Order: sequence, then C-alpha cells, then structure tokens
Amino acid sequence: MSDYVDELDYEERGRVVIVADARTLAEAAAETLIAAVAEAIAERGRAVVALAGGSTPQRMGELLATDEYRGRIDWSRLHVFWGDERWVPLEHPECNAGEAIRTFLDDVDIPAAQVHPYHTHLEPPRAAARQYEEQLREVFGAEALPRFDLIFLGVGDDGHTASLFPGADAINEKHDWVVAYEVQKLSAIRLSLTPPVLNAARRVAFVVGGGGKAHVLHTILDGGLDVDETPAQVVRPANGELVWLVDVAAAELLERRAVEEA
Ligand code: 6PG
Repeated sequence: MSDYVDELDYEERGRVVIVADARTLAEAAAETLIAAVAEAIAERGRAVVALAGGSTPQRMGELLATDEYRGRIDWSRLHVFWGDERWVPLEHPECNAGEAIRTFLDDVDIPAAQVHPYHTHLEPPRAAARQYEEQLREVFGAEALPRFDLIFLGVGDDGHTASLFPGADAINEKHDWVVAYEVQKLSAIRLSLTPPVLNAARRVAFVVGGGGKAHVLHTILDGGLDVDETPAQVVRPANGELVWLVDVAAAELLERRAVEEA
C-alpha cells in the first residue's frame, strides 16, 4: 500500500492504520475490500459485505469503478448490503445505496439480486427494517446472527456510526438486527444495522478522514467508554477483527501516536 504512514495497536479498540491523505485512504479501503472478498470467496465460496454512507466511501467507489480495480474483485460472488440508510428513495442524492450504485455498482458485473438496498418505499419505516432483516436471513440462512465478511463504517463528528446516534435506544438494542427510528436532531428517519449484527462480523473497518474528525477519533480511541455518548465505541466485534483506516489529519490527536513520536 502506498503512502502508508504508521500503525498503532489500540488492543480491544482495534488496530489503527494511518495513511497520508484522502486519496490513500480510499486506496486503503479498496485494498481492504479486495482482500476480504478474496479471502471469503476462497474459504466460503462467496463474500458478503456492508458498505457505509457518507463522503469517504464514495472515493473508494470511484476507485473501484476504474479499470485498474474493477477486475480485482469477483463480483459474481459478492453480496452487498449497507450499514445504514436515510429514509429517501434510491434515486435521491442522499441515499447511501443509490450513491454507491451510481458510483460503481452499475459499472461492475454484480448480479442485481446480490445488491441489497433498504426498501425505503415501504411504509412505515419499521416495515422496511423488518424487510431488511428478511433480506439478511435469505442470504445468511439459518445462521443465528448474520456474520458479514466485512462491514465498512464511518464516524460522524458527534461520535455516531452507521445510524446509531448519541442517546438512541438503538445503541443498546439486543434483539432486532435492523432498526428504523427518527433521529431527533436531524428530524429525519434513519435505518441502521444494530450492534449485535455489527459485532458479529468477521471484520469491521472504520474509514475516517480529515482534520474535522481528529477530536472525535481521539474521544473514541483514547477516551473513557461511554457508548450512549459515543456510539462508535459500541463496535467491538466479539470474534472478529477491528481496523481503523485513518488519514494523518484525523489521527493528529491520538495519544498513542503522540507517545510514540515523543
Ligand atoms: C451516513 C453514515 C454515517 C457516516 C458518517 C461519516 O449515512 O451518514 O452512514 O455514519 O458514515 O457520518 O460520514 P463522512 O464519511 O461523510 O464523514
């Protein structure tokens, strides 16, 4: 991987891989996806991943659509879900799935039946959450919990991840795999996978870039544990790998980095 800068061991909070900038962050995310998909296909004959919303994964999508990257994934054996979604139609510019479909999934040979957006046309939103659980069951079969090969996540500057926002009941959900609820401060409905599903994954990769995320990343990794205040801290795969792909700007306040450099 080019422009690799540093790697920090945050023990149970994960392994932190620091790269130079936004471009190399997108490359690191794409390489993580390529490796996880290849490994899953070699071991189980198919790969199931969940993508994140937000701006950071969009750059990864742009890379995956290029000739250089497209041929490095066996799209015919890949299933794609999303960690969370906004309550808007697929055609809407803010729709996470729609964005990924337009950016790269439309340009690769992935069977349409293996692309699993939330059904945001179903009313009420809870029905769409139940329907998404059905889609998960269809793909994962009788497994007690869906075990994704890779889940990509982002973090918001308020500490949210997927659509688990500070103070939301969803952070402590133990039973449902998918929730739909109104995020008060956004006055918007969001759908999200819940912690039991996130934490059942074989690998979770946070992708965090830019100086605007430095403070929250420091809180998540160096701060006390308070999942209601900082929901990204709830992500701790029970039997899987947790990696943070971050750029230098986002890593600026990390204490372990400061200690190592001192
Ligand atoms: C969403 C997300 C959300 C996102 C973070 C970071 O749909 O909003 O899933 O959790 O990943 O807000 O977004 P950026 O990568 O744009 O900073």
